[in-house]
Amino acid sequence: MCGTERSSHSIACLSNGSRANLPVIDLDPGNPAVFEEYWRRMGDKCRVDIPGCDLMSYKAPTGNVCWFLLPELEEAIRRLHRAVGNAVVDERHLVVGTGSTQVFQAALYALSTPASHKPIHVVSAAPYYSSYPEETDFLCSRLYKWGGDAKEYDAEKSGAFIEVVNSPNNPDGCMRQSVVNASQGKLIHDFAYYWPQFTPINSPADHDLMYFTFSKCTGHAGSRIGWALVKDREVAVKMTKYIELNTLGVSKDSQFRTAKIIKLLCNDYQKIGLNSSNNFFEYGNRVMAKRWKNLRDVIGRSDVFSLPTFERQYCCFLGRPSRPYPAFAWLKCKEEIEDCGSFLRGYNIEGRHGKRFGADAKYLRISMLSSDDVFYDFLDRLSAIQTFQQ
Ligand SMILES: Cc1ncc(COP(=O)(O)O)c(C=O)c1O
Repeated sequence: MCGTERSSHSIACLSNGSRANLPVIDLDPGNPAVFEEYWRRMGDKCRVDIPGCDLMSYKAPTGNVCWFLLPELEEAIRRLHRAVGNAVVDERHLVVGTGSTQVFQAALYALSTPASHKPIHVVSAAPYYSSYPEETDFLCSRLYKWGGDAKEYDAEKSGAFIEVVNSPNNPDGCMRQSVVNASQGKLIHDFAYYWPQFTPINSPADHDLMYFTFSKCTGHAGSRIGWALVKDREVAVKMTKYIELNTLGVSKDSQFRTAKIIKLLCNDYQKIGLNSSNNFFEYGNRVMAKRWKNLRDVIGRSDVFSLPTFERQYCCFLGRPSRPYPAFAWLKCKEEIEDCGSFLRGYNIEGRHGKRFGADAKYLRISMLSSDDVFYDFLDRLSAIQTFQQ
């Protein structure tokens, strides 16, 4: 469960003049630069070499529903989920996409009914990931439309819906379950952050349509690989059709690289186990834990901000208790400050505004995934914010 930690002291402040000259610290995007150091250490172990004559076909040599999925990627993904214990993979179809952004849109298409005279509502409990409304309504589809906060959704009145459950949730890091209490709804589970560096793994997720992303699993956002585990064959077929018409498959080069990196993770885990900073998830968990400790120390000395708090839980993968260390800090400003985004912009700190997540302007989402330089500059600057000044 999430709670709130409040601070009670105050610290030295910056004058208006000195603030204007500060370089901008941009913690709006969730670019996962935090893991680059680990992969730099891995050196050539993950280097890929693709001869000019390889991976040229649209198709993959597979009998899969997802006809462009490389068999080595499928094998690597199934092996990874079995090793981490975060999702049931048996009797599931695997659909690969160009990032989970495409997988999400393919899922919306697959779960809506073309013959229906009204678009199906897509809802998610606020604060929800800011891209859900944007992606849902971008093409003004006749199949689906954004229906807002799932907690407010009245299925009796408004009819069929798709609920997106993001767990742990971007932006606030809380573990979630569906909230609309009605049988005519369909569910999409977005597990972008259900990896041991961000949250304790308590059991393998087992839902009809779940998706994951390589972007947040290992930090390789640039490869643009996401995947869905789908129970129903027809849904997997429709998702594949969407991706076929949208991008005619998914880059084989990226799939190949992803397979290589995931295979390395699994081999290392089998060979060296967890008790080494060479294990990616152990490393990632320690790095995130350190960042959260440092952030909480700074917030604890300020009387301006608060953060959600999380209880320690047993992580089945790490084999020890761990706290959630979310990819984002859901920063809340004290009562007198109406707009946390504008307040921090006054110190040249950029985050993502609470309203974009269907929440109050008192909240700002701050990325915890930036490079060390940016993150520790941010902490220094935050430390210098003493009190609220209008
Ligand atoms: C909750 C959530 N889902 C999905 C995505 C999309 O990730 P990608 O398209 O890189 O797989 C993100 C990216 O930040 C995210 O935070």
